[in-house]
Amino acid sequence: MKTQVAIIGAGPSGLLLGQLLSKQGIDNVIIERAAGDYILGRIRAGVLEQGMTDLLREAGVGERMDREGQIHTGVELAFNNKRVKIELEKLTGGSTVMVYGQTEVTRDLMEARSAADLTTYYESSNVVLHDVKTDSPYVTFEQGGEEYRLDCDYIAGCDGFHGVSRPTIPESSRKEFERVYPFGWLGVLSDTPPVNDELIYCKTDRGFAMTSMRSATRSRYYLQVPLTDKVENWSDDDFWTELKRRLPDDVAEKLITGPTIEKSIAPLRSFVCEPMQYGNLFLVGDAAHIVPPTGAKGLNLAASDVATLNKILTRVYKDGDKACINQYSEICLRRVWHGERFSWWMTSMLHDFGDDGANSTDAETYGRFMSSELNFYTDNEAGRRVIAMQYVGLPYEDLS
Ligand code: APR
Ligand code: PHB
Repeated sequence: MKTQVAIIGAGPSGLLLGQLLSKQGIDNVIIERAAGDYILGRIRAGVLEQGMTDLLREAGVGERMDREGQIHTGVELAFNNKRVKIELEKLTGGSTVMVYGQTEVTRDLMEARSAADLTTYYESSNVVLHDVKTDSPYVTFEQGGEEYRLDCDYIAGCDGFHGVSRPTIPESSRKEFERVYPFGWLGVLSDTPPVNDELIYCKTDRGFAMTSMRSATRSRYYLQVPLTDKVENWSDDDFWTELKRRLPDDVAEKLITGPTIEKSIAPLRSFVCEPMQYGNLFLVGDAAHIVPPTGAKGLNLAASDVATLNKILTRVYKDGDKACINQYSEICLRRVWHGERFSWWMTSMLHDFGDDGANSTDAETYGRFMSSELNFYTDNEAGRRVIAMQYVGLPYEDLS
């Protein structure tokens, strides 16, 4: 089999890239390890920057998002039992964010790909990338008991943190940067009305909490928990009781509880692989970088990688300019590191790092620094503008 671009992974990165390339008449095939339903069952984030919503509309999959998504003009930070509004639209001169679940983004992209009858191999196994440093790379994989070889010009590694693409780059040719946080997020979905119109990020002595939503009837809540914690330790009642303890009093009073329909714990990590390109292999999204969810950047950084790769491949195939592929990693990494730093900063300001045992004084000192940081940046408009500019997302960079 032959295609122009082989895409590994049918998560948001792979599906969005495939849709944009197809719009340009660039042939692509997606090879995905899991079944489509399994991918849709993964509960992920829900805040989209304007850059991403514009990209989804360009890809022709923005109609349901525009109908069902919620435009948010602000978010709240709550600490010391006070609530500070970060007025995103006012402070940035008009930028907002869209609340629309990643699951719905993925569903819209999957349905569009299927409607366009584009080739996607779900439930593939033993995916191996070959000759990525040559002009004739190829992918071998198995599916439905058959072995396949897909020859291509380029490979987009959209296969997430645990995928096969990043390890295809020899260790001697890549450098990985990582910070693992000493806590995780316990998240629940419930078919209950959101407790507040805007998202609230809460810092308390008991730990971080967050209120979000998926619609007017479906809420998403999070609690900071120790890395050693397990989902089975948390009954619904335990979760609601602890959430109320961490919410500002006037918010806790309004909380409507109910049975949870999803409950999971996710670790928090900052991770970047440099470079994001090796020959004709391009790492995209979670395959190249991971952020703690406190800045709502994971999906949005994946989108900006996709935007850059789409621009590059369009220039390669439409203008015959192959040299521009060497801009990919540098352009992506500039925006990735901004997103990494903002996500680390928000995580550091809003979580309780407690004591790390052996060196509790250091942890407590760090905690005082970050409490001061939170007070300083929320106490004045210039500081709130710094938060707002990064939360709505920095501009996408064009090719030179
Ligand atoms: N072969 C084929 N597919 C694979 C392989 C493999 N060896 N390994 C992983 N995959 C698939 C996974 O099953 C998944 O569907 O690649 C896809 C990667 O999707 P994501 O992990 O969602 O990564 P990405 O598309 O970059 O989206 C980033 O997802 O995890 C969230 O917080 C993250 O919001 C961010 C977004
Ligand atoms: C979510 O709605 O799941 C969400 C929103 C904002 C974040 C993280 C998660 O920063």
